[in-house]
Amino acid sequence: MMLDIKDLRVSFQNGDGQENEVVHGINLSLNKGETLGIVGESGSGKSVLSLATIGLLPKTARASGEILFKGEDILRMTERQLCALRGSRIGMIFQEPMTALNPAMKVGSQIAEGLRLHRHLSRREASAEALRLLEMVRIPDAKRKMHCYPHEMSGGQRQRVGIAIALALKPDLLIADEPTTALDVTVQAEILDILDDLVSELGIALILISHDLGVIARIADRTLVMYRGNEMEQGETERVLREPSHEYTVKLLSALPQRVRVGLEITTPNSEGKA
Ligand SMILES: Nc1ncnc2c1ncn2[C@@H]1O[C@H](COP(=O)(O)OP(=O)(O)OP(=O)(O)O)[C@@H](O)[C@H]1O
Ligand SMILES: [Mg+2]
Repeated sequence: MMLDIKDLRVSFQNGDGQENEVVHGINLSLNKGETLGIVGESGSGKSVLSLATIGLLPKTARASGEILFKGEDILRMTERQLCALRGSRIGMIFQEPMTALNPAMKVGSQIAEGLRLHRHLSRREASAEALRLLEMVRIPDAKRKMHCYPHEMSGGQRQRVGIAIALALKPDLLIADEPTTALDVTVQAEILDILDDLVSELGIALILISHDLGVIARIADRTLVMYRGNEMEQGETERVLREPSHEYTVKLLSALPQRVRVGLEITTPNSEGKA
């Protein structure tokens, strides 16, 4: 098992010194080559869960339980071990790719810099590898784009660069927190296809977080539905979509456009009888 989370609880200290638990005992596990979707409305604890998984919870947070990554508990790692982990084995893709990009540096050099630092490649090797990564995330005209600054690219292209940067370190696990929310639907679909291909081609494990069940349904093998820090249900995505065992999942399903539901062959109690 690559990732095994057991009874994860996270709480924050309020201004008045009170502990406020926001993740209430989540269990999940993930293997190589698998995609786990995490879906839930705003504030349900998706980002807190993913930050805990890369050891990036703020200092004010307290976590208990276990987050076993290849058998080692992330919650019990030193800052130094966590740095090494984030530098190579776990990659993160953010909602707004500018978070991960340096606005003052050409895209090619940014990717190459990480490669030289973490994978000790020569300047020439790093540059060639940066180009290969940009081609892998299907940036059109990648050779020329190497010399662009992030602001000279579209949102979708910037997200592809964000993915390339995460991939540069050859992670075993990728966590994508709302990676397509800021993008229009066609670009969204392309990015999801890229992520899906990376999972099957590179055998990485992917956690895909979204408030949109339609996004999750596209590529996740299994789905965890969260609500207010609790697991509502978890299982094969097909099963969760076809026979949701929880009222909250039914609500998320019925929020999908009819067109998407028909594509997924879902009929929820609410959609029956409607045109
Ligand atoms: N640094 C923090 N300090 C205190 N409370 C926090 C902090 N970060 C998150 N929370 C609380 O934890 C809960 C879960 O937040 P989280 O960001 O994980 O939600 P989310 O599911 O990612 O929502 P969204 O879809 O809006 O991104 C929320 O109630 C939030 O207020
Ligand atoms: Mg979030």
